[in-house]
Amino acid sequence: MSTHHLNIAIVGATGAVGRVAMQLLEARNHPVSHIVAMASARSAGRKLPYNGSEVLVAEAAPELFHSVDVAFISASSAVSRELAPEAVKLGALVIDDGSAFRMEPDVPLVVPEVNGEDVEWHQGIISIPNCTTTPLVMALRALEKAATVERVTVATYQSVSGTGAAAQLELYQQSQAILAGRSYQQNVYPHRIAFNVLPQVDDFLDGGYTVEEQKMVNESRKILHAPHLPMSATCVRVPVQVSHSEAAHIEFNRPLSASEARAALETFPGLAVVDDPTRSVYPMPHHAEGQDDVFVGRIREDASHPRGIALWLACDNLRKGAALNALQILDEVVRRDCLGGRPTSPLYSKGEGQGPPKQGCGSNGVVRGDAPEG
Ligand SMILES: NC(=O)c1ccc[n+]([C@@H]2O[C@H](COP(=O)([O-])OP(=O)(O)OC[C@H]3O[C@@H](n4cnc5c(N)ncnc54)[C@H](OP(=O)(O)O)[C@@H]3O)[C@@H](O)[C@H]2O)c1
Repeated sequence: MSTHHLNIAIVGATGAVGRVAMQLLEARNHPVSHIVAMASARSAGRKLPYNGSEVLVAEAAPELFHSVDVAFISASSAVSRELAPEAVKLGALVIDDGSAFRMEPDVPLVVPEVNGEDVEWHQGIISIPNCTTTPLVMALRALEKAATVERVTVATYQSVSGTGAAAQLELYQQSQAILAGRSYQQNVYPHRIAFNVLPQVDDFLDGGYTVEEQKMVNESRKILHAPHLPMSATCVRVPVQVSHSEAAHIEFNRPLSASEARAALETFPGLAVVDDPTRSVYPMPHHAEGQDDVFVGRIREDASHPRGIALWLACDNLRKGAALNALQILDEVVRRDCLGGRPTSPLYSKGEGQGPPKQGCGSNGVVRGDAPEG
């Protein structure tokens, strides 16, 4: 990786994902020269801790992307749609956490362990998947080494931090109020979340699935390059602060033993097998919180299908489900020499001076600073 330092922007720096991104940038020793922290007007002037010092938060605005090399956008689809093209025009690589561009054909949707090579055809924007998609596609890619995946059924148990900082506060405050016998506020979800489970994540579509469930299917197919993979998801919100869990049933083209599946999962980077049911050892959101790995356990042959495997996943949605995956995408881009960007930018060099990105990297040969508007 380059020793040249980068100017980094974080849009949504005060949010659930943005705060973790700041922590990880510091902890993972990314080569950061300068951080531009942006959020809404509400947060302008706030100070966020970074590297023993403080970073001032500014109200997000296009002109703040001048001299920015990489912009992480973790705010909302509307903010991404407004600001990402502006950042790209000014020569930044945008790594977007939201859903705005995920299914655009010219935007790679990347989990580096699964399809890191896709960063090579970025044209200024790379998206990360939904926080439920990431752990699932990692497990599926691992198992594909043993047999072909023919069908996937998954149910999620998603923490409130997947909705953002406001939902975390709502769970906390509702829990306190209910335990004290007081009335409670309900603003974020259609029902109370404390001491409850909601079989609805996002709005319903025609046909009965939710937007979140459809996202999981569409995104998994794109990342795995399997556009017709049969898949059905049920997404459920649970009263957990951080980390999502998933129960997956996977059918293959041949019978796969539990030990074969375990061996395939154990050797996949970023997956950690935690699976000793006789001692009640299995992945749990409580243990996944603050961890980088995706944890997998309860690996067993599906009693209802001769070629099926059932398993259970847990993953910190703010880390591997969001901020960590975004930072790993930056690592992958730098490793593959695909940052591209302004010809004059001293981003990194290989000792031969810098130049436009090589063919096939950064804009498929188009220098990002020349990207068309809109
Ligand atoms: N949470 C997850 O597990 C997860 C996982 C994967 C992807 N994502 C995606 O990441 C993004 C952020 O999610 P989050 O959970 O961090 O949400 P969040 O906690 O609600 O944070 C939202 C952030 O966006 C900022 N913001 C709001 N309006 C803005 C505006 N007009 N201009 C600039 N900044 C604005 C907020 O600033 P203020 O503090 O000033 O309001 C805050 O920093 C979303 O697109 C989400 O889909 C989240």
